[in-house]
Amino acid sequence: MKILIDDADLKKIEEFFDMYPYDGVTTNPTILSKTGNPDPMDQLKKIAALMPEGTDLHAQVLSTSAEDMVKEAKYMTDVLGGGKINMFVKIPATPEGLKAMAMAAKEGVNVTATAIYGVMPAFMAAKAGAKYLAPYVNRLDVLGYDGVKIAIDIHNCVKAAGYEAEVLGASFKNSQQILEMAKAGCGAVTVGSEPLAKLAFNQVAEEAVNVFINDFENCCGKGKTMLDF
Ligand code: E4P
Repeated sequence: MKILIDDADLKKIEEFFDMYPYDGVTTNPTILSKTGNPDPMDQLKKIAALMPEGTDLHAQVLSTSAEDMVKEAKYMTDVLGGGKINMFVKIPATPEGLKAMAMAAKEGVNVTATAIYGVMPAFMAAKAGAKYLAPYVNRLDVLGYDGVKIAIDIHNCVKAAGYEAEVLGASFKNSQQILEMAKAGCGAVTVGSEPLAKLAFNQVAEEAVNVFINDFENCCGKGKTMLDF
């Protein structure tokens, strides 16, 4: 399962890639607005520049008519794609968005269907040629639905129908929601900075390591490692 960074802050993105080989970066207009950069294409170019080769960048269109969404998607693909990263354009899974997805996919745009709040819009997006389907897991939970179940239902329906689309689970607040995606065989998740930093963090593990270092230093000397012997 791919794990992507759901953030547009250059420093944070750099730090995350430095720590672990993540599979890419996703943004949405809200995430981009939080950087304070009034030129979102400039911000996306800067993000793409610091991403490792072969990783995926997802960014969203703002247009509201299908024809304009396609124009915007092609523009974003032309400007941001074609280099070392794989460019995916996020189009909302609304009726107008679904129309745009079919047109954009035919023109060679890598489409990610976003703002998915149900199984049926996701299924239709897969049928329209989207490569990734992004259900908003935690936002669904907040609305009183079972976000994890909806994401897994999407995965199962799409696989049963033989479409190439993969679930890109989005909007997570904790590791458990992400673990369920992995157990079900979902293709990808995108995770915001806070839950991302905690995916592999365990206070007990930190304490266990500190005990090992302490015991070793008591015997062999302060600050010593195997390199000293
Ligand atoms: C990603 O594509 C979504 O826009 C994002 O994960 C939404 O996350 P949020 O619910 O934390 O805003």
